[in-house]
Amino acid sequence: MSTLNLAVVQTSPVFGDIPGNLRRALDLVPVGCDLAVLPELFATGYQFRDTAEAMSMAEEAAPGGAGGPIVQALVARAAATGATLVAGLAEKAGAAVYNSAVLVRPDGSREIYRKVHLFDREKEVFRPGDLGFPVFDACGAKVGLMICFDWIFPEAARSLALAGAQVLCHPSNLLLPWCPEAMVTRCQENRVFAATANRIGSEDRTGQRLDFIGMSEIVSPLGDILRRMGREEEGAAMAAIDLEAIEKQVTPRNHIFNDRRPDQYRI
Ligand code: ACM
Repeated sequence: MSTLNLAVVQTSPVFGDIPGNLRRALDLVPVGCDLAVLPELFATGYQFRDTAEAMSMAEEAAPGGAGGPIVQALVARAAATGATLVAGLAEKAGAAVYNSAVLVRPDGSREIYRKVHLFDREKEVFRPGDLGFPVFDACGAKVGLMICFDWIFPEAARSLALAGAQVLCHPSNLLLPWCPEAMVTRCQENRVFAATANRIGSEDRTGQRLDFIGMSEIVSPLGDILRRMGREEEGAAMAAIDLEAIEKQVTPRNHIFNDRRPDQYRI
């Protein structure tokens, strides 16, 4: 299958209301989608006060782990809809808690990515990711996972693209205004599709008010914005994408990867 119905779900979670957030978010997964991306920490909310609070809502989400209510709800929804789901959650792994994204296939199998680049106070709450930037086979595509602030490091999208990703799934809780435009560049410089799923609303649990910017989007390998949501709407957007439209040849003499000159770079 080279055509895929790719969706982003944009939510407005209430901090700590896991059952309500799960119900509202999963109800928004569009009928007929093959791959849907939900926001970072979509079922818990974002602004944990400390590691202990994050741990209290974390789950053993990695393959082979026990899971919990969030993983179970994603597994049930993936089975019911036939869609692969990618969503952010707090992941418990022994004594550590990671800001992670889980990929759940309709057959119940799952994969994990742990956020590499932690943003601001996240550094006081989560352990930084230690699994690199993974690419998984799902719904007939090579699916790469990154989370929110990873966008500002071109190495994240580049690592995924070099590992063969065709679609970047990007659960987010965006605060800075530049990401939606930056992801256009990430797609152009790697010739990949990207689906950034963000949240809306605000949180102020630590004396630092956070306003989330919405603008979830689906972007093509040429940087066309196929769908972009508003700053305040809850809902979902879907686009039919053709994986065969991915062309790494920029001109007859220029290939986006083969023309790289790593010997000239300082990385
Ligand atoms: C962010 O990485 N959630 C801003």
